[in-house]
Order: sequence, then C-alpha cells, then structure tokens
Amino acid sequence: MKVVVLRGGSSLERQVSLRSGARVEDALARLGHEVIPIDVGLDLIQQLRESRPDAAFIAMHGRDGEDGTVQELLELLDVPYTGSGVLACVRATDKVLAKHLMVEAGVPTPEFFAFNETAFRELGAAEALGAIEERLDFPIVVKPSSQGSALGIKFARSAADVPAALVAAFSYDSKVLLERHVDGRDLAVSILDGEPLPVVEAVPQGDEFYDFQARYEIGRTSFVCPAELPAETTAQAHDLALRTYRLLGCEAVARVDLMLDASGALTVLEANPIPGLTDTSLLPQAAEAAGMSFDDLVGRILDLALQRAPA
Ligand SMILES: Nc1ncnc2c1ncn2[C@@H]1O[C@H](COP(=O)(O)OP(=O)(O)O)[C@@H](O)[C@H]1O
Ligand SMILES: [Mg+2]
Repeated sequence: MKVVVLRGGSSLERQVSLRSGARVEDALARLGHEVIPIDVGLDLIQQLRESRPDAAFIAMHGRDGEDGTVQELLELLDVPYTGSGVLACVRATDKVLAKHLMVEAGVPTPEFFAFNETAFRELGAAEALGAIEERLDFPIVVKPSSQGSALGIKFARSAADVPAALVAAFSYDSKVLLERHVDGRDLAVSILDGEPLPVVEAVPQGDEFYDFQARYEIGRTSFVCPAELPAETTAQAHDLALRTYRLLGCEAVARVDLMLDASGALTVLEANPIPGLTDTSLLPQAAEAAGMSFDDLVGRILDLALQRAPA
C-alpha cells in the first residue's frame, strides 16, 4: 500500500504533529507499506496528485488537519483518509458547538457561556461578566473554542483575572467559552471503531493543571491506565465517551476527555477527532492496555480508512 502521512502544517500544534507523524511513519514502514511523508503546506494538492497514494494517514492536530479542512481536500481528490469525516471534525473541533450538542443530547458537560469577540466589541458583553461569574463560581475556566493541547486555557481565580484570561483566549480564537471549573480527576477514553479502550487518567505532578508543557515532557505527568476507578465509574465513562463519539458523528477513532469530580460525577469536556500519537499520548497507552501494540493500532486505523473508502 502506498500511504502518505500528512503531518506538520502551520497549526500551533505543529511540533506535536511532527512527533505523531514520525511514529506513524515508522509503524507503517514496519507494517510493509510504502510511506510518503508530507509536511502539509501550499504544495499539498500537487504532492497528493503526484504521489497518487492508496490512502492518507492524517497525523495533524489543531487547525486545518483536525477541523475538516484537509479532510475536505482529500474527499475532493478521492483519497481515502484515516479518522472521521468532515462534519464530525467540524463539530468536534468547535468546543462551543460540541458542548451545545452535548447539552441537547443530555450528555453532561460543565456549564458554560460562550461569546464571539463581537459580543465584547459591539454588544458590551463585558457588562454581563458579573452575572456569569455568579453563575459559574470561581475559579472559572476560560478557553478558546477551537484549540488543543490546553493552549490558551486559563483558570481565573477571581473577577480580577477574567479580563486577562479572555484576552489570552481571544488571541487563539474569535470565539471563547467561560466554563465551570471541575475540581477533580482528568480522564480520557479513546474509542476505536466504536469500542471504548481502557480509561487513562492523567495525573499532573505538582499543582499545575495538565497544560501544554506537562503533556509533552516525559515525567511532568504520570499516566495510569487502566485508571483506578470503581467498575461503575469506568462503565459510565465508557458510555459517555461512546455517546459523545456518536453524537458528533466520529468514525474510526477519537478520544473523549472527561472530568471526574469528588462526588463521582462525570462530565465531558471535549472530543478529539485526531488523538495524539506521540510517545506520551493517551491513545497509544490505552491501546497498549487493551493488548494492542502501536503498530497494531496504526494498522487498524489504516484498515478502517480503507474499509470506509468507496470501492
Ligand atoms: N472545566 C474544567 N474544569 C477543570 N479542568 C479543566 C476544565 N476544562 C479544562 N480543564 C483542564 O484543561 C485541560 C484541557 O482542556 P480541554 O477542554 O480538554 O481542551 P484541550 O485539550 O483541547 O486543550 C483538561 O484536560 C483539564 O486538565
Ligand atoms: Mg483535551
């Protein structure tokens, strides 16, 4: 099989994507495929036309790769690709849209209020911040609607922190959300072909939350997989992740991030249509706990892309 690996690109998660891509390339080569790595940029279409691949493995995170843009181009060129289709990518990478869909479907997600930049610039939304702060209590989580790897996320500990947190979030996206903070444990459930894998718990070392640095520096976060949870909680986490995956229309693979609070209640934060595949990423750990090697995982994701492709 001739497989192009799409990685890099100009998103802020470029470096993460290069790391996911490198591991995927090695795995595909070990599986006997002809691998053509592409650093996604202006010549993407030209490179795809020249290489005429049997499939594209998308190892991109964040803008373009994960939000449906690259998927749309691959559809146009009739190249089968890994992961979810355009619509699921659009829904999942827009946290505000995804959370509205969760609320509508009865999937628990932390309470939130979302605004476009224009609400502040043209509608004086700043005047409403006091009311929001009363509804959500401090600390309040402020985050850009579409971004990953905890980029642009701030915890506002008091009203005085909110304006700067908003400015930071707006520097990543023109839509931001203010979300109720969940004091609890960080869980992730990856779904492979409609089946949930063992739950991973990310335990940050020290008191920092699970931020960008902690995610990619070995040792800054420890991971427990399968997470030590009552069987009932594991079952609920699996159920919520699967409901979210289906609700957003994900296919083949996705990772759903959840919080577990002290009372044992679970809430869904978001779904990632292209989970990280670096050596500190959660999906490979979950696959391993399910008895699947990294190469098995990559092979399986590729097979799913080919199965979905029209004959
Ligand atoms: N409402 C919240 N309460 C507590 N922690 C949160 C909340 N939202 C985000 N976090 C922390 O920030 C991390 C990243 O948030 P998430 O919504 O998954 O965005 P992304 O992973 O796309 O950057 C979470 O894994 C969690 O540690
Ligand atoms: Mg997340």
